[in-house]
Amino acid sequence: MTKSVKLEEKTLDLLQDINLDVNAGDTLAIVGSSGSGKTTLLSILAGLDLPTTGEVYLKKHSLHQCNEEQRSEIRANHVGFIFQQFLLVNSLTALENVMLPAELANMDNAEQLAKDLLTQVDLGDRLDHYPSQLSGGEQQRVGIARAFISKPDILFADEPTGNLDSKTGRNVADLLFDLNKQFGTTLVLVTHDLKLAARCQRQVIMDSGCLVEGKVEEIVEDAAEDIAEDIQKEQVESPAENLAQSKAASEG
Ligand SMILES: Nc1ncnc2c1ncn2[C@@H]1O[C@H](COP(=O)(O)OP(=O)(O)OP(=O)(O)O)[C@@H](O)[C@H]1O
Ligand SMILES: [Mg+2]
Repeated sequence: MTKSVKLEEKTLDLLQDINLDVNAGDTLAIVGSSGSGKTTLLSILAGLDLPTTGEVYLKKHSLHQCNEEQRSEIRANHVGFIFQQFLLVNSLTALENVMLPAELANMDNAEQLAKDLLTQVDLGDRLDHYPSQLSGGEQQRVGIARAFISKPDILFADEPTGNLDSKTGRNVADLLFDLNKQFGTTLVLVTHDLKLAARCQRQVIMDSGCLVEGKVEEIVEDAAEDIAEDIQKEQVESPAENLAQSKAASEG
């Protein structure tokens, strides 16, 4: 599968030659640097966006051949998505935001389920708050509760712990993996947190729009090498040094 976008005169290749299978019940972590294409990939896997070429299957559905309406129905029945930017509905309270997917799926115990989930993410006392009255981490937890409510077959999570302190982050991660254990929910998550990635059965690395299969230990090694390289580069061309030199030059 590939994804490119046309920008005025040039075409930008966001994803190249992606080949990925995820089995039901698996847990997969996608790691990689900012701008490498992780969110783009997740959106296509979840049927939120379409590939430019190639095929994407979710269960037996050929997502690449579905129109927007068909894809939204498939999403409602099978998919949960935790967005990097939360995407809560601003005019709805925390409770109403979480209830929304359950109401769309005609579940009758939406309110009680939503209350239970919000309590599980430690927001039992914030039910009536609007998104603007919640902190970033609190909004993220509302988004997580919302993704859980319809008990999806497959849960896509884009930086699910990105805005949380380490304790809350661990609780959220525990929730994700409990869901996988209890209900066999397939987990596909994007994260910069290598400890979270390590809890998945499998890790892949996104590098400039390409996927490479990898192990967390290798990623850590690579990261350490990158950091060492950066430090070396900084020593060669230290901005502070440059500044001092140019200042000295200008002062004669
Ligand atoms: N609609 C678009 N039009 C043009 N460029 C886009 C579009 N969507 C994404 N991009 C570009 O594609 C690249 C990949 O974006 P993406 O959001 O997938 O990165 P990411 O790996 O999720 O990064 P981060 O870790 O910062 O969230 C970026 O360089 C981004 O600027
Ligand atoms: Mg992203």
